[in-house]
Amino acid sequence: MCGIIGYIGKQQASPIVIDGLRRLEYRGYDSAGLAVLADGKLATRKRKGKIDEGLAVLHKQSPVTGTVGMGHTRWATHGLPTDENSHPHLDQSGRIAIVHNGVIENYDSLRKKLEAKGHTFKSETDTEVLAHLIGERYAALEKAGHIKENAATHPLAQATKDALKDAVGTYGVVVISEMHPGVMVGARRGSPLIVGIGNDENFLASDANAIVNYTKRVIYLKDYDVVTLWEDNFKMETVSDNSGSYQISDIEFDAEAADKGDFDHYMLKEIFEQPQTVKNALRGRMDFEESTAKFGGLNMSVAELRAIDKIVITACGTSWHAALVGEYLIEEMAHIPVEVEYASEYRYRNAPIDKNTLCIVITQSGETADTLAGLRESKRRGHTVLSICNVVGSTIARESDGGIYLHAGPEIGVASTKAFVSQVTALTLFALMMGRIRMLSNRRGTQILKALEAVPGQIQKILDQNDEIRRIALKYKDCHNFFFLGRQYNFPVALEGALKLKEISYIHAEGYPAAEMKHGPIAMIDENTPTVVVLPTDALYEKTYSNLEEIKARKGPTVAIATEGNTHIAEKVDDVIYVPETWECINPLLAVIPLQLLSYHIAVARECDVDKPRNLAKSVTVE
Ligand code: M6R
Repeated sequence: MCGIIGYIGKQQASPIVIDGLRRLEYRGYDSAGLAVLADGKLATRKRKGKIDEGLAVLHKQSPVTGTVGMGHTRWATHGLPTDENSHPHLDQSGRIAIVHNGVIENYDSLRKKLEAKGHTFKSETDTEVLAHLIGERYAALEKAGHIKENAATHPLAQATKDALKDAVGTYGVVVISEMHPGVMVGARRGSPLIVGIGNDENFLASDANAIVNYTKRVIYLKDYDVVTLWEDNFKMETVSDNSGSYQISDIEFDAEAADKGDFDHYMLKEIFEQPQTVKNALRGRMDFEESTAKFGGLNMSVAELRAIDKIVITACGTSWHAALVGEYLIEEMAHIPVEVEYASEYRYRNAPIDKNTLCIVITQSGETADTLAGLRESKRRGHTVLSICNVVGSTIARESDGGIYLHAGPEIGVASTKAFVSQVTALTLFALMMGRIRMLSNRRGTQILKALEAVPGQIQKILDQNDEIRRIALKYKDCHNFFFLGRQYNFPVALEGALKLKEISYIHAEGYPAAEMKHGPIAMIDENTPTVVVLPTDALYEKTYSNLEEIKARKGPTVAIATEGNTHIAEKVDDVIYVPETWECINPLLAVIPLQLLSYHIAVARECDVDKPRNLAKSVTVE
């Protein structure tokens, strides 16, 4: 939540900052702003609204020049999205500016203390309080005569560290000051921040997309790291220490991967990438020789995996839906009981967890605050935690004991699509591996591998029906309520279909196990409430079909996601979208694709901003 970029070098900072903010806008788009050191003076521009409607227009009218600058795109936590509440914020003296991602929980008491000392505030934000606190600590250093550019800890970094010692909460923060125009300071706790190392230029950013155009060499800051950047150097410390450790990594994707290409929206691009992203998730992990799957990064021996007698999976949103598919997969293939928890509930629930329980967290971003907190809670209790994660080097990937990367490339559309399919692919491989360690036959293992191998081509076949799916979407675009139904493996798919539609088109939608409708929700059905039923030709086909008849009997329009070859269904429902035949356990990987496209086309037809749906942000780094 909230995107941050900072630049120090020889180039003009503003264009780099605005370009970076555009690439980060999926992290929040309530307002955006920048601060540049122009001839040694701080110049700020900030405005409510999306970048191209606010900040970029403002900056065009009144540009600022200078080679040190930083910017912020906001997802509001404290205070409405207004010009005043937009970042950057200045300290009391107006000589220090900060941008911040996170929440300063004790900002109210800090603000009162500062007000008692004569500070006045222009915004309602916790960030402005932090800016004032840094200014206050800087003034104390000045008073004590401790302002020396060549000090072991740079005075701007020292003031930042002193302020952060008093701040309770989370931060990814960048600080610049008129007093030190050749320096930029960054610090993190709980909110991501990375250093980009260039040639005679350095960067700070909340994620790699913002800077991959300029450099691929990065350092992922750890909690409590504080970094001082000059254009040709950097120094790593921690909030409490004068030295810090770091590791330089390479960003694993190219700048083009974070571009929209010829697609109208990132979401559509990401939907169409799925044949490739499934291949990426499978690459090197299918072992036909042993009819199993293998992973490089689990960091667990076969004996340790064999000893597991329960699995708890925690996640949020779409990743939680993938976890539910994982529950069916692991229980069927490996006969290990699985519990799926909302990460936000798990961490505060005093759930008794047995000794031999493996914890798995699933997350696209690797930064979701609730999921991270759940991971830490599991680790605190002494459990091994594996992560299934997309963003390399993210906090969750680093803090887990081992894991599986999705290699899906950057997912920029706020509505998650390719990450879900890759998560389910990874879970299928994991379930297969766990099954083969226990009781799954060689023959079944081979069947599953063959079915997985066919998935990219089968997804492509569904994508080829895009025009037909769009036609169906246009038919239902003005409805106010939708139901999505599925059984077993396809129940989580129904939940995911409903979430996709809600978040990008603002149509009320609910997902249910098909048989649950008659226990209450069916009361909602009328001729204007369509129901999308995931209805593969499987062992429960007749049962699910009966549920569909119950909807039809109440005049509800019906759309079936059916298996190719089922010609009978076309006569029974209003619309049908076919997916290729596969095993039951693989069907979610196919059935979800038409639901993604259906939501996308409905949202576009309703003129919604698909990639930046209202009230949402891509990576939810607050609790
Ligand atoms: O990055 P994560 O997978 O941890 O994110 C979890 C949810 O915030 C995310 O899936 C959210 O529900 C998406 N907007 C769904 O499209």
